[in-house]
Amino acid sequence: MQYSQKVLDHFMKPHNIGKLENPDAEATEGSPACGDQISITLKIDPKTNIIDDIKFQSYGCASNIATGSIITDMAMGKTIDEAKNISWKGAADALDGLPPVKMHCSVLAVDTLKKAIKQYEIEHGLAEKESFSKDTIVEELKKIIYPGVGEDIVTLKMVKYVGFENGVAIIDVDIPKFDKYRDNVAEEIKEHLEAFEEIKEAKVTI
Ligand code: FES
Repeated sequence: MQYSQKVLDHFMKPHNIGKLENPDAEATEGSPACGDQISITLKIDPKTNIIDDIKFQSYGCASNIATGSIITDMAMGKTIDEAKNISWKGAADALDGLPPVKMHCSVLAVDTLKKAIKQYEIEHGLAEKESFSKDTIVEELKKIIYPGVGEDIVTLKMVKYVGFENGVAIIDVDIPKFDKYRDNVAEEIKEHLEAFEEIKEAKVTI
């Protein structure tokens, strides 16, 4: 697999590795695509909402470690509003690109940072817990990367229908029959959606 020099540098010597004591915000997320995990801890100044310190621990691959390293660099010294705008594409660009099959590793790292910040905002009255709806499902589907091109399945217009009724999510996805990633994508959709307590079952039609 071809990695950029920047990915290799951050992988070999990751920045901001570790776990902060008594963090103001933290999150640990796992990837349904590969089973890997990443934890992020933050210290946030309550007056300015500036991230004073941030560390990560990765139990993932080289791309995940490199993304954890670069996004913690990018978030350090920023306000939580600025850090929230770090995207997985921005992180991948800052690493001079990632192979398409490794884009989900960047999504995992950035999503973990966003979850930690969201939790902090809810706990400090800066945001409200979002109510669950069909839009929540669509937002979650935007985190599922089609490994063939390294883009999410919503942007690629692979998602043809999203429904949600009585705890059952119904997702219709258009992927050619002999595509080698077809089953992986369907499985990943199920795992992502069934992690929500509001969803009893995710029915994926491909
Ligand atoms: Fe699991 Fe990269 S995070 S393969």
